[in-house]
This record gives sequence, structure tokens and C-alpha cells, in this order.
Amino acid sequence: MSKNICFIDGLEGILKYREIDINQLVDLSYDAVSYLLIQGELPGDKELAEYSARLQGEREINREVMDVIRMYKLNIDAMEALRTVVSFISQFDPDLNDSSTEANMRKSIRLIAKIPTIIAAYYRVASGKEPVPPDRSLSHGANFLYMIRGSKPSKLEAEVIEKDFILSAEHELNASTFSSRVTASTLADLYSAVVSGLCTLKGPLHGGARAEVMTMIQEIACPENAEKYILEKMGKKEKIMGFGHRVYKTYDPRGTLFKQLSKQLAEAKGDMHWYETAEVIENTVVRELVEKKGKPIYPNVDFYSAVIYMYMDIPPQLATSIFAIGRVSGWIAHSFDQYEKKKIIRPRAFMLDEC
Ligand code: CMC
Repeated sequence: MSKNICFIDGLEGILKYREIDINQLVDLSYDAVSYLLIQGELPGDKELAEYSARLQGEREINREVMDVIRMYKLNIDAMEALRTVVSFISQFDPDLNDSSTEANMRKSIRLIAKIPTIIAAYYRVASGKEPVPPDRSLSHGANFLYMIRGSKPSKLEAEVIEKDFILSAEHELNASTFSSRVTASTLADLYSAVVSGLCTLKGPLHGGARAEVMTMIQEIACPENAEKYILEKMGKKEKIMGFGHRVYKTYDPRGTLFKQLSKQLAEAKGDMHWYETAEVIENTVVRELVEKKGKPIYPNVDFYSAVIYMYMDIPPQLATSIFAIGRVSGWIAHSFDQYEKKKIIRPRAFMLDEC
């Protein structure tokens, strides 16, 4: 694969997947972006139709998987269930230990297709409801919302969740992708690489920040409370979740797109209060940390994405796992790249001082 999987300019706030700017990619389907990441090129109409049909055909999960999902406690984060179930389903994959390119592609399709079904099934069971089987006629995003709700989403909601998956799909050597790559570098199977990614995404300094942002905004409750809440947190030297980034020293372009999407949703729902609460938080953090202290702490990918989940009635319990629905394509693209290299990643301990 010739093109870089990802390009980030953290000073200018530029993000590209396979040399295509995120502002262009966000208007495509998740299937097309996933294909781009994994295959290295955007699909033509025929390739995309075939790829989407293969994904749609692999969405179902079997009865044994449902039995495991029903054994979970009801009040846990969906990531706990997802992590184990992805590991569990590997035994049903006839290609598990076939590392040919074709078999790895079939495994990728199964993983990308089944992860949303697993999350939705766990959520339905945890909410005391029957799981909703996937609908092959719906897009990746619309089908996920349909499976968690039992009814089809509005056109805008379907578009927004699709964009959420695209914006979450890839981000170079972030912590979870690094984990996946390390696992793939040992030539372990693709399920193992994806489970490593899931485990690492879970932490609150990475994908887990999204759920914490939701909890924080719920606690703040309205725009009038936001400034005082944030100032108090800063007074206690606590970090504000959804802000700051190891690479971006300016606005994260995904954060900017998520902000626009959350405003669109707020306007469509005729309820601006979550959006306005988030905006007061943003203004307070930027004023206190950027303008007064010169620290480059801007909203990251997890801040306004949390706001869109609030408008779509998605609970914090699902937030990190939804990040994984998007990110799995990135983990797979990097694992494939690592398989081609056939070289184990084995840093020395002194390198940790630079992390
Ligand atoms: N709120 C307040 N202060 C912050 C924040 C924040 N969110 N982030 C960084 N700072 C301050 C930090 O206190 C430190 O100040 P000082 O130099 O005075 O000690 C300085 O900025 C540098 O922080 P750092 O933690 O050394 O920076 P890092 O590059 O190691 O960490 C980060 C990056 C994303 C882990 C961090 O900004 C953070 O913990 N943010 C909150 C959690 C979060 O939103 N995580 C999602 C990350 S982006 C998407 C993803 O990976 O999932």
C-alpha cells in the first residue's frame, strides 16, 4: 500500500486519510471510508456496492453469541461486553488462523459488520428489551440506530451517526491503534489485534473521554451553571474531559466538524440547551487555558461527539463502544500494514520516557 494511512498536521489542524482531507471524507458513506482505509483507494461504484453488500450480509450474530451477551450484568459499560464478545466470536470464524490477504479481508468484513450488532444487542438486553435484528437495507449508521432503538432514525440522525463513524475511523498512531499494531506485529490473528485496540480505547484519557464528557454535561445541566463548574474543576487542577490532544496544538478538525453537527441536531430538535452548555464550557476552557495561560487546550474529537449522542438519546454507557464502531477500520488498516512489514515492534524501555 503506497499511500500513508493517515496524515495529521497538528499545528495547522489538518487530518487526511489516505491523502484525502477529512472535510471531503465526511460526506461519503462509512462503507466507502472503511474501504479506502483498508484497501488504500476509494472504491468505484461497483466495488462499493459489492463491499456494502458483503458488510450487510455479515451483520447477524449467532445464538451462542446472544447467549453470552445475555450473561452480562446490566449496568456495565458496553465496552466490557464488546471486548469479550469480539474475542468470543473469533472461534466461529472459519478464517481465524488463515493469514492470507483474502482471509484477512473476510475477517475484516465480519468484524466491521458484527461490532455494531453486538453493542446494540447488549444494550437492548441491558435495557430489558429484545434485541432487534439488523436491517440489511439500511446504511451502517442508520442500521445501528435502528438496532438500539427498534425504530428507524430520522434522515439527519442517520447522516450524523454515519459522519461520527467516519470522523472516528482513523487517527494515525493513537494509543489503541498502536496496541493493535503491536499485536499484529507478532503475527497474531486480526481478532487479537482488534481486541487489543478495544482494550486500549476504553481508558478515559483516550476513547473513554467521550462518556465522561456526557456525564459532565449532564451534571452541569444548563449553560448558566457551566462557567462556575469548569472554574471550580480547574481550581482543583482537574482535567476537563474532551479537551487537549497530544498532537493537535490548535483546533482538532474533527472537533470542529462535530461542533457543526451538534448544532445542526440541536436546531432540528428545537432544543439548544446541551449545545449551549457545551459552548460555554468550550469558551471557558479556551479563555482560561489558551488565552490566559497559553496552553493549546482545545476541544478534541470526544467533546462535541458527546453532545451529538446526548441529542440522539444515546447513554454514556454506549459512548466508547460507538467510537470503536468507527475506529475498527483504522485498526484493521494498520494491522494489515503491520502484517506486510513482518517485523515485530519491540521498543526499549528508555523510549517510555519520551511518551
Ligand atoms: N484540561 C485541563 N488541562 C489540560 C487538559 C485538559 N483536558 N489537557 C491537558 N491539560 C494541561 C495539563 O494539565 C498540562 O498542564 P501543565 O503543563 O501545567 O502540567 C498540560 O496541559 C499538558 O498536558 P498533558 O496531559 O501532559 O498532555 P498530553 O499530551 O500528555 O495529554 C491528553 C493529552 C489528551 C491525554 C490530555 O490533554 C487529556 O488528558 N485530556 C483529557 C482527556 C481527553 O479528552 N482525552 C481524549 C483525547 S483525544 C481523542 C482520543 O484519543 O480518544
